[in-house]
Amino acid sequence: MIHENPAWKQLAAEATAIKQTHLRDLLKDAGRCAALRVEHDGIIADFSRQNATTRTLHLLSELAKEAGLHRKIKAQFSGERINVTENRSVLHTALRAPKGQKLIVDGTDVVAQVHEVLDRIHTFAEQIRSGQRLGATGKPLVDVVAIGIGGSYLGPEFVAESLRFHPGCHAAAKGRRLRFIANVDPTDAARALEGLDPERTLVVVISKTFTTAETMLNAKTVRSWLVERLGPAAVARHMVAVSTNLKEVAAFGIDPANAFGFWDWVGGRYSVCSAVGVLPLALQFGWEPVQKFLAGAHAIDQHVHDAPLERNIPVLLGIFGVWNASFLNHPSRALLPYSQALHRFAAHIQQVDMESNGKRVDLSGRPLPFEAGEVDFGEPGTNGQHSFYQLVHQGRVVPADFIGFKRSQTPVTVDGETVSNHDELMANFFAQPDALAFGKTAEEVAAEGTPDWLVPHRVFPGNRPSSVLLLDELTPYSCGQLLALYEHRTMVQGFIWGVNSYDQWGVELGKVLAKQVRTQLAASRGGKAPIAGFNPATAAMLADYLR
Ligand code: F6P
Repeated sequence: MIHENPAWKQLAAEATAIKQTHLRDLLKDAGRCAALRVEHDGIIADFSRQNATTRTLHLLSELAKEAGLHRKIKAQFSGERINVTENRSVLHTALRAPKGQKLIVDGTDVVAQVHEVLDRIHTFAEQIRSGQRLGATGKPLVDVVAIGIGGSYLGPEFVAESLRFHPGCHAAAKGRRLRFIANVDPTDAARALEGLDPERTLVVVISKTFTTAETMLNAKTVRSWLVERLGPAAVARHMVAVSTNLKEVAAFGIDPANAFGFWDWVGGRYSVCSAVGVLPLALQFGWEPVQKFLAGAHAIDQHVHDAPLERNIPVLLGIFGVWNASFLNHPSRALLPYSQALHRFAAHIQQVDMESNGKRVDLSGRPLPFEAGEVDFGEPGTNGQHSFYQLVHQGRVVPADFIGFKRSQTPVTVDGETVSNHDELMANFFAQPDALAFGKTAEEVAAEGTPDWLVPHRVFPGNRPSSVLLLDELTPYSCGQLLALYEHRTMVQGFIWGVNSYDQWGVELGKVLAKQVRTQLAASRGGKAPIAGFNPATAAMLADYLR
């Protein structure tokens, strides 16, 4: 296991040494700051506020080499079946490979397969958007309801929200609405359907398996909403599907001709670049932004594959993640985009990362003797500043990623103000990482005339790590870059820890127990069957619920 390697042992010693340093001092070294900063394709990534020296970075790179990171990335990208517990390849990178680039896996050119589906989506989306393809009563289909959960929802919603106020996308989406239903809570469907006219609504059911309980019930709920108003024949014109399971799509009653496929080598949480994301996004924004989004993700795929470790942004994000989680024992990580358009970014990356690396055993099933995986959470700045930053500044140490842009999607300058609204936002973006790193000493607080008794309350220990990513503007291209950066960050960490980042057995047990409860609820509500087969606490709760 990786913890037996020389670099791991050296890093453990390095962690003890680094605890004697303070970022206040480390940040005085301009050479170190320059060495911990990388620029690539419109992205500036600054790791100078990590609790690390250039020696730490060197040791982390050694660790990555000892873990075989480069070889593992190549194996993944070339279609080896690295998801060993499901015997599958992991090829979400093929989803954004340009047309004509060949990748033969098990005798099939998967990139050609991908572009076949992309071409179908392009044609279909244009037909809907242009009004060439109409609803059952002859009305244009201007609204889309996308039904799906987890990876079949979070990624598409994050991208849709990111692009909603991008000028080109905003113009392209004029007169159209894209809504999502994920939760089986009927209030989610009520929110999504509010104000929609079934005659003008296209429903996209998105599910890799087409068996996910929540999605299937929501799909039936929305089908009833359509059928009640338009009759059963309307389903064919108003419902389409995205799935790898075309048999189940047909069984549900959606014509496979209205289904867009993908493949078992696309993990749910890595599926936003497949029809899962591309179809709703193309319907809402048209084809050009989708192509740019895919191009941005592809550019980062090339970067992670080709760039040397110490200049490779996803690798640096990943190795500092390992450093913080496994050596400095910081279990969580905050994602702090200074961009309201990225308000669903943390939710998406939370699934990407926590479902991937939230593991307890290595690839061969041995329990991990070190902490792996992270608790991811986040909110856009400046909102988070008025919420959980208190804990981040003076409570626990939470490594943070700050993400900001040089230009706003919606620039505003109010007359008489000294800075634009975007500069106001970004003033906070630049201030927070330094506040975390430098803190404020008791002497500094006292020098401000603070009474002695209040001084400890106003001290900031500082020395709290963060990374800063500065991009030009949030566009379809940079949104694709961001997605791939964070997908690959998770990949890098998983490869170093030696876990399988591409299975998710941990979601199964709850599903099985829910089935047992569902059966009980049906029997007890209908036939008044007594509650049986549960522990006393759950049995009592169920009785209370049914009373
Ligand atoms: O929560 C488990 C999970 O399998 C996720 O991995 C997946 O993204 C989600 O459920 C939805 O699955 P499906 O796309 O098959 O409906």
